Amino acid sequence: MTAQDEQPPFLYVVVCAAGIAADVGRLIAAAQEREWHVGVIATPHAMNGFFDTAAVEARTGRPIRSAWRRPGEPRPFPVPDAVVVAPATFNTINKWAAGIADTLALGTLCEVAGLGVPVGVLPCVNETLAGHPAYQDSLIRLRGMGVRFGYPYDGAQGEEFGWERALDLIE
Ligand SMILES: Cc1cc2nc3c(=O)[nH]c(=O)nc-3n(C[C@H](O)[C@H](O)[C@H](O)COP(=O)(O)O)c2cc1C
Repeated sequence: MTAQDEQPPFLYVVVCAAGIAADVGRLIAAAQEREWHVGVIATPHAMNGFFDTAAVEARTGRPIRSAWRRPGEPRPFPVPDAVVVAPATFNTINKWAAGIADTLALGTLCEVAGLGVPVGVLPCVNETLAGHPAYQDSLIRLRGMGVRFGYPYDGAQGEEFGWERALDLIE
């Protein structure tokens, strides 16, 4: 491969419908400072007012993906060099672990396990939900697939989300 063929490193940022998603621009800015090119894949719920989609598209220079492309349409994003899920909801974590692929975000996550690229997850799940046995099983299953998790965060007591943790997990 020549230097001309080399593509810049490409990061998928998967965004779920948690309140903290409103600040996802911080993660994108931090990733760009670390020389990542970023493509955002959001769950359909997350597209429903959880973050400023126009600001994110302006920052990444690419449309946010949320629905599957039509057959015959080219893939809009390159194959990723790494994937982060931030914030990750209870719902998406459990469905991912169960192999459910009924949103583009989930389908993408289910597929990346086979790509061998680093995957970092920042869950935003309150303590009560995190105590559900299905959630604990999901974490064990995904960790067993090599997925890396940030420390538990439930948004209580105004604790900082620490968006850069997602990048530390994959580097
Ligand atoms: C304002 C608001 C904030 C929410 N915050 C969270 C959250 O922090 N964590 C979480 O797991 N679910 C949260 N939810 C619930 C999720 O949006 C809901 O479970 C949804 O089905 C998740 O969809 P997704 O996983 O496809 O993004 C929140 C819902 C609302 C309306």
